[in-house]
Amino acid sequence: MEIKIQLTDCPKQKTKDSELGFGKVFTDHMFTMDWDKENGWHDAQIIPFGDISLSPACNVFHYSQETFEGLKAYRTPDGHIQLFRPEENFKRLNNSNKRLAMPEVDIDFCIEALKKLVEIDQEWVPYSEGHSLYVRPFCIATEPNLGAHNTSMVKFLIILSPVGAYYASGLNPVNIYVEPRYVRAVRGGTGFAKTGGNYAASMLAQEEAAAQGFSQVLWLDGVEQKYIEEVGAMNVFFVLGDEVVTPELRGSILPGITRKSVIEILKHWGYKVSERRITVDELMEAYKEGKFTEMFGSGTAAVISPVGLLRYKDYDMTLSDGKIGELSQKLYDALTAIQWGKAEDPFGWTVKVC
Ligand code: PLP
Ligand code: COI
Repeated sequence: MEIKIQLTDCPKQKTKDSELGFGKVFTDHMFTMDWDKENGWHDAQIIPFGDISLSPACNVFHYSQETFEGLKAYRTPDGHIQLFRPEENFKRLNNSNKRLAMPEVDIDFCIEALKKLVEIDQEWVPYSEGHSLYVRPFCIATEPNLGAHNTSMVKFLIILSPVGAYYASGLNPVNIYVEPRYVRAVRGGTGFAKTGGNYAASMLAQEEAAAQGFSQVLWLDGVEQKYIEEVGAMNVFFVLGDEVVTPELRGSILPGITRKSVIEILKHWGYKVSERRITVDELMEAYKEGKFTEMFGSGTAAVISPVGLLRYKDYDMTLSDGKIGELSQKLYDALTAIQWGKAEDPFGWTVKVC
């Protein structure tokens, strides 16, 4: 499919990297394409970033039929721009689309479209340390019809946002609250899909935890409320003695691409990594025995995020003396060196844009 390109005639003033924060500033252009039953995907275009016009009756507004992705483009020391594992993101988008009964996209075409878009907006890729260009592809159901049945029309967009750290605290440890009441997802539901509804369902718990000074909540499973799942925007890892444990993928948590990369790096380094079920009770026991020493989250936005304090009900677990844990720092350094092109990429994860 041909991509029509219409460039803006009034490029925006760029925000200083130090004032970017996360997800508030957008570049000059975006990619859009549409799907309907008769024509399949069509009308691929790169156009100036701006508001889109939709009927208020579109399915997405009423029934949350939506999927999204998150990946990043990085500026390398030798002046290139590269993406991190984009194929994985579009594969996951297709898995989410299948679950949300929306059409799959052509992965190679989407990567080409994304490369073109990033190339056009290349000056927006931040130059300073720790900053990158966040890429947000998403699909929305656009049939204007209040009937609660599957959509016959979908819109796919990619928008770009230059970003700094996801948490205001940067790489400093975050405090996490184990959510004892609300649940985010259940097996057979949409937990493994990256869909807006999962996030909408988590806002209240997130807000209540924030009011108590916590950055995010750690979800427990939706059936017995005892197995650890994931944090609002990250997967989680625990250092228990000589074992690094992360909850296994059982359909209710997001199969994070950073999670997958961390597991591959740890195995490459010879660590014992277990993807298994783990209860909050096991964590508390291990903490009492002095074996639970470190915890961190992994995610595209959050990168590697050390956890300094974990609270379950009224029990507090202080990890790595509330400082950045040794393994968290080592992983952060290794992963970001690959992402920013400062080190060899022995895994072949990066894809050059220009
Ligand atoms: N879990 C949730 C709920 C997320 O929103 C994210 C962020 O994308 C992750 C985990 C981490 O996934 P990834 O590493 O692919 O960004
Ligand atoms: C990401 O890390 O890409 C995410 O999607 C997290 C998001 C909820 C900001």
